[in-house]
Amino acid sequence: MEHSENLFRLGTESAFEVLARAQALSSKGKNIINLGIGQPDFKTADHIVEAAIKALKDGHHGYTPANGILPLREAVSEDLYFRHRARISPDNIIIMPGGKPTMFFSILMFGGPNTEIMYPNPGFPIYESVINYSGSKAVPIKLEEDLNFSFKAENVLNKISDKTRLIIINSPGNPTGGVIPRQEIEILTAGLENFPKVTILSDEIYSRMLYDGRKHISLLEFPNIRNRLIVLDGWSKTYAMTGWRLGFSVWPDQLLEYATRLCVNNHSCVNAPTQYAGIAALKGPQDVVNSMLNEFEQRRKFIVDALNELPGVYCKEPGGAFYVFPNIIKTGLSSQKAQDDLLEMAGVATIAGTSFGEMGEGFLRFSYANSLENIEEAINRIKKIID
Ligand SMILES: Cc1ncc(COP(=O)(O)O)c(C=O)c1O
Repeated sequence: MEHSENLFRLGTESAFEVLARAQALSSKGKNIINLGIGQPDFKTADHIVEAAIKALKDGHHGYTPANGILPLREAVSEDLYFRHRARISPDNIIIMPGGKPTMFFSILMFGGPNTEIMYPNPGFPIYESVINYSGSKAVPIKLEEDLNFSFKAENVLNKISDKTRLIIINSPGNPTGGVIPRQEIEILTAGLENFPKVTILSDEIYSRMLYDGRKHISLLEFPNIRNRLIVLDGWSKTYAMTGWRLGFSVWPDQLLEYATRLCVNNHSCVNAPTQYAGIAALKGPQDVVNSMLNEFEQRRKFIVDALNELPGVYCKEPGGAFYVFPNIIKTGLSSQKAQDDLLEMAGVATIAGTSFGEMGEGFLRFSYANSLENIEEAINRIKKIID
């Protein structure tokens, strides 16, 4: 078989591999606490589930338009206005099967030999994987622990070359929980005026998950880059709907037709009942989101304090998402070794920082999308093996 060379360059998301290893250990009778996977440990709210059931009973079994049903795109448009005061026409919104297809399509649109794409490192591993797959050079934007896992906008602007086609930004970020401060976003968006050919993909999948009263700053709030901005968001994290596969993206006019064609070529449309569930999520009561966030906020405080008490571990308090990214350099363990030891010896699944790029060496990602009791038990087990 002589398949495409590109396949050799495709990476993966280790969280799924760790999940498989954790499940294999569980099936052998080992008790595993999973702080590896990035999905809320809450159930999708009943009114959302009911809306999908009703849609099926009402006969919504067929294809929908490739860009999604109009009432859902209208609901997204209203939500974006409510949250960011951004006036986005439903025509510029495409409903996607989750958040990932938007990054895949955007990177494929701009990637190719002799081009560069900038991406956060440590960052969501699919960025680097698909950039490499596309044939572009992946140029890391280093997220600095000292800057609470953000960056100095000047450094990003300085790295833009005449080969740069796309810059990927992710705030709040996976795996660090870092939030890019408004000041840096302002400098970045203003500086981008000097690079009118560069497109921006802003991954805002954690846009509702901020703590200590922080407010999400969407790149949609900056009209000067709107004509070359793609925004990725969705229901997976906010409404505990990871398995439904429902996301949306905002596209500039120039890319809209191409993005829709990629949908037609790839998946035709998102399944109809899920789209009706999406309307119920946006238009229904938001107390489910708020109570989930309150719970996450308590766990964040607990896990940060508990990790900071472990010898050799130092953990910043992240501003968003549901991850902490402690520095373990002083333990003398590599990230991979720490991940393996914690899984094998303590029965605690975490993800090595290096799964998120080489700049994640010396860190581990813990997801606190697990109960407070389990997090407490996990920390106790880690303490025991350290002792
Ligand atoms: C930063 C980031 N973007 C996108 C996604 C993908 O979201 P989805 O599951 O909706 O495809 C994730 C999921 O973990 C993520 O962490």
